[in-house]
Amino acid sequence: MLDKSKSAAGVHTSAVKQPARNNRTLSLLQQERAHLQQQIFTLQHPVLHPEQLYNRVIHGNMNDVCDLLPLHFVDLLILDPPYNMTKKFNGSTFTKSTHDKYASWFESWFVKVLPALKETASIYVCADWHTSTAVFDILEKYTTVRNRITFERDKGRGAYTNWKNCSEDIWFCTMGEHYTFNVDAVKVRKKVLASYRHHTGEPKDWKHEEDGKYRMTFPSNLWTDITIPFWSMPENTNHPTQKPEKLLAKLILASSNPGDVVLDPFLGSGTTAVTAKKLHRTFLGVEMDEEYCLYALKRLASAEHDKTIQGYENGIFFERNSL
Ligand SMILES: C[S@@+](CC[C@H](N)C(=O)[O-])C[C@H]1O[C@@H](n2cnc3c(N)ncnc32)[C@H](O)[C@@H]1O
Repeated sequence: MLDKSKSAAGVHTSAVKQPARNNRTLSLLQQERAHLQQQIFTLQHPVLHPEQLYNRVIHGNMNDVCDLLPLHFVDLLILDPPYNMTKKFNGSTFTKSTHDKYASWFESWFVKVLPALKETASIYVCADWHTSTAVFDILEKYTTVRNRITFERDKGRGAYTNWKNCSEDIWFCTMGEHYTFNVDAVKVRKKVLASYRHHTGEPKDWKHEEDGKYRMTFPSNLWTDITIPFWSMPENTNHPTQKPEKLLAKLILASSNPGDVVLDPFLGSGTTAVTAKKLHRTFLGVEMDEEYCLYALKRLASAEHDKTIQGYENGIFFERNSL
């Protein structure tokens, strides 16, 4: 943002407004851009060997890219397409349409991604409440829909004539009956209110920890521990709809194993790829906006040495903003 200010010599200058001291939003320096641009991958011809795509950020339209992908190499598909609302993504604007038109658009590209999936693959599809209803029938047509996760967004605008929108859905689907689900990796640490004991005096399924008594519980489809990235979080970028790494970590840990291939054809700022890398999975991302590809590549470079995921430590997902 430009800010008019006066220099020491009394001359009016245009200076870039300084961000707040602890604003950690990712920025790209000019020399970094040139370097990162060299790492951007494009596809022109069909790829026969999946290894050629491993750990790549592909700049392109996913409609074209999906036609060139090999068959049956993806273990986990994460879909976070533009929702059915008008939203500006850097150079382009996605425009809200009717329920039916959005559903047809979704189906037109969804069928192109499916051949890349293994029979054992899982799929997660992000949506707001409106979009969620539009995509459900299509997911039912091509996959087995197993659940709908709803997570509470702590960000959101209040409304005078409606309920404030502060939830989003994630559909959980699989291609078949055999699929990965690592429930122990995503159990939730809960404070124990009733600390029952065995007759021997031993705690019944809970533990004493430094700050109290906790038990690991089965994860439900209602998540209240998610923080949408904001300016003081190191993962934050200027992407308008960035998902938190913690949310992706849950999906990736539950539905893939180390080394598995995770595909995100609407990569945005790179959250899926970065989290997959931090969790030792193989990633492939497609994004049509070059600026967002650069964000993803910069975050991936940091993930070489920094494997931290805010809100997830030593195999435990902590309550929102408690770390
Ligand atoms: C909802 S955002 C994804 C945000 C991402 N999950 C993150 O954490 O940053 C959707 C992204 O898809 C991109 N996009 C839209 N249409 C696309 C297409 N046909 N091919 C590739 N990318 C596309 C947009 O530029 C946008 O960055």
